[in-house]
Amino acid sequence: MATFSLNINGKDHQVELDPNTPILWVLRDHLNMLGTKYGCGIAQCGACTIHLDGIAMRSCILPVSAIKDKKITTIEGLSENGNHPVQQAWLEHDVPQCGYCQAGQIMSAAALLKDNPNPTDKEIDAAMNGNICRCGTYSRIKKAIKTASEIG
Ligand code: FES
Ligand code: FES
Repeated sequence: MATFSLNINGKDHQVELDPNTPILWVLRDHLNMLGTKYGCGIAQCGACTIHLDGIAMRSCILPVSAIKDKKITTIEGLSENGNHPVQQAWLEHDVPQCGYCQAGQIMSAAALLKDNPNPTDKEIDAAMNGNICRCGTYSRIKKAIKTASEIG
């Protein structure tokens, strides 16, 4: 066990954990932040996507010991009032179906637009490739990313 100081959504948290604990379980089990989802646990589905210093990462394979002083952002902290351009566009296009994958989709889309405010179709496909949606909302996701790039 070791003690870790984590900055999550602008707030500091101290947790005492096995250093190998994936940050996904720190969020969900230790801090009761349930917006980040568990899908596969092996970096294959994207449901658990968070930002680490603004970069999209799979929290299911990211040990707490690897965070160091980097800042974590989860879906709960992407915007103060749920009004990030990606969130606005998601509402406009009514993107979610069951919703399970959507926090991860939104976090990946937000990271893409931060780096590349006007992505092409190919760039969207490449950036979103690792986010699986079993409900097949892919075409709405793509439209929403384009709308978000116009709002943003
Ligand atoms: S739960 Fe992390 S990528 Fe699937
Ligand atoms: S909305 Fe159901 S898995 Fe994506």
